[in-house]
Amino acid sequence: MQGGIALVASGSATPSQKLTNDQLGLRVDTSDAWIRSRTGIGERRVSTPEESLAALSAKAGSAALDMAGWDPATIDLVLLATSTPDDLFGSATQVQARLGAKNAVAFDLTAACSGFLFALITAAQYLRSGAMHRALVIGADQMSRWVDWDDRRSCVLFGDGAGALALQSTNFENDGLLGFKMKSDGSRGNCLNLVDNGDSMSLVEGIRYRKGKFLPIQMNGQEVYKFAVREVPAILDELLTLSEITPDSLDWLLLHQANKRILDAVADRFSIPYEKVLSNLFKYGNTSAGTIPIMLDEAVREGKIRRNHLIASSGFGAGLSWGASLFRWHGPD
Ligand code: UT7
Repeated sequence: MQGGIALVASGSATPSQKLTNDQLGLRVDTSDAWIRSRTGIGERRVSTPEESLAALSAKAGSAALDMAGWDPATIDLVLLATSTPDDLFGSATQVQARLGAKNAVAFDLTAACSGFLFALITAAQYLRSGAMHRALVIGADQMSRWVDWDDRRSCVLFGDGAGALALQSTNFENDGLLGFKMKSDGSRGNCLNLVDNGDSMSLVEGIRYRKGKFLPIQMNGQEVYKFAVREVPAILDELLTLSEITPDSLDWLLLHQANKRILDAVADRFSIPYEKVLSNLFKYGNTSAGTIPIMLDEAVREGKIRRNHLIASSGFGAGLSWGASLFRWHGPD
């Protein structure tokens, strides 16, 4: 009997241009010491003007397909979680074309920093129902395009990157997705935005319209911080209780990489030792939908995450949106 999901392979890609804290200090009034102590970030990656989101995503996706040993033509779904597409109509189809996944349907999903987790859970439903057999879930963002590089309160946090996960339907006994929860609260959404604020224009006599133009990211860091340290432990607690899993049985805590202090606060709440908390914030900062799959891929390739390891993951961010999932890593056959 089908109905289960196996997490088979991962991939990631980051642009080669590195921007260190010291380099950022040449542009805004900040310092390496401040950024490291308040966030844990040391540097981030910035795409060149020529590097597209689709290209970055396809590179990550292709690495996952290589690890899985899958022919791209055997994938049924390419689901791209991003808030920074090359094209507002969606970038997933360009990723599909680049991968040669000619039999897959491809579309974008937008849920900011929760995007990858929401996409993983969404793709899992198609596999569970039997409607699809193989899916490639990608989380990718180019925050560098939308950050206000003159706003030191936000620009120090963000970077660019993409990560991918290959999922396959399997029998129910081997199900790797043990549980999930997703939440949204639009009433608190104004603490983190990337909004359209174009000019009011005349179309013809008596008809006006607004020409689309986005403002850079606007963030109330303290509000987002408070939201994260309150809601992430709460949703993880709910999920662990529901799944009858105790924190000490987790092999890894894989959180959205936003701020080292948030990772530590969540770990402390569950008495999870810091060695079990995956973090690559120092190298990449916050790549939004990219953080969880990039971190997953690094930990898999470094041999930290191994078959049957139990992982608790949580994403959180703009919307506001947040979610958590519990899964077991399978790896390629
Ligand atoms: O995916 C979700 C994305 N967003 C987040 O995860 C954001 C969550 N929030 C945070 O990570 C933290 O709130 C920040 C790292 C953004 C800020 O840290 P903080 O400890 O909350 O600092 P703060 O906003 O309370 O600012 C403290 C001081 C202020 O100076 P005064 O008013 O005390 O004189 C700021 O002006 O630090 C100043 N400051 C900076 N100084 C040097 C703010 N940004 C910087 C900076 N460099 N980059």
